Amino acid sequence: MRVYVSAPGKVTLFGEHAVVYGQPAIVTSIDRRVHVFAEPRSDGAVTIEARDLRTPGVRVTYREGEVTVETDYGLVLPAISYLHKAVEVASSYLGSRHGVKLVVQSEMPVGAGLGTSAAVAVATVAAYAYSGGYELSKDEIARLGWEVEKKVQGIASPMDTSIVTYGGFMRIRYSGEEVERVSLRVGAELPILLAYVEREFRTGDMVRMVRERVTRYPQLYGRIIELVGEVVGAAERALLNHDLEELGLMMNLNHGLLDSLGVSTRRLNEVVYAARSSGALGAKLTGAGGGGCVIALSRPEKMGVVEAVMGFLSEFTMRTSLGSEGVRVEVGEKTGGAALTRTTCLRSSWCT
Ligand code: PMV
Repeated sequence: MRVYVSAPGKVTLFGEHAVVYGQPAIVTSIDRRVHVFAEPRSDGAVTIEARDLRTPGVRVTYREGEVTVETDYGLVLPAISYLHKAVEVASSYLGSRHGVKLVVQSEMPVGAGLGTSAAVAVATVAAYAYSGGYELSKDEIARLGWEVEKKVQGIASPMDTSIVTYGGFMRIRYSGEEVERVSLRVGAELPILLAYVEREFRTGDMVRMVRERVTRYPQLYGRIIELVGEVVGAAERALLNHDLEELGLMMNLNHGLLDSLGVSTRRLNEVVYAARSSGALGAKLTGAGGGGCVIALSRPEKMGVVEAVMGFLSEFTMRTSLGSEGVRVEVGEKTGGAALTRTTCLRSSWCT
């Protein structure tokens, strides 16, 4: 069976880092997607064609027989290993293995903190299962996608794989294997802008650094973590009431707390402050920090100027609409081809 699956990227609106300590976070899907096309192969082989991992600035390191290929937007081989692991995890769950040709294409840069690895994991798990004639529920897809992330990264939260599976807006809280997901009904469009600045640190480094501080000074850092949880509560009310002023205020408060945890950088702060002074109601880093993305909630009439100012200080900006559909599966002979070439490129050099 030929199968075409797509899954959206994501941004964390509120609560990153604190979510690792059992606090709630609010995440949402974005309107850029990862596309995976799967076609069974009769020879039993698994082939992977990654069409858009040609990102700029490639560095290759040869160390003790190990080859690492890194680009400005992250590691290349791990990006491919999500596909490979997804096939492994799905086939062991299904108890059967079949050959497949997988083609992956992304509308987002890899490694920018937009959830591409989760989207690849989730979409590949689904594509592999359906191409073998199996069906999976969203719960199964989310669970298996999370397995894939844990296997590739060593440690992963279920946040990204949950939101890219279900889409929309979600309050999520987890402790160990227990995951609580609440879908939030957000009626109106939010005037959101995203900007990316080069990452100086990886997610794992930032999570480790925060853990060291929380462990060493629980009275201080532990209280910041709790406060982030309270900001998430207030932000959820503002989001549901579409109170943009209050939502912006909560973004600023959340950013201040993230900065005091030590995960912001000078460049991220510059983008955040410039966005605010050019017409954003609120701006914060999103994701692990140490570089990566900033989100800004613009006054609707100021989108152009906020975007220009953020663009001046960052590697790229994008407008995105939030809360898009989660994983989408299409099965059938006519599936796939057109959609795979219909992607929007952030940089023309990424697409041919
Ligand atoms: O940078 P990202 O998108 O991988 O986000 C990491 C989010 C953290 O809360 C910092 C870590 C986690 O596992 O939830």
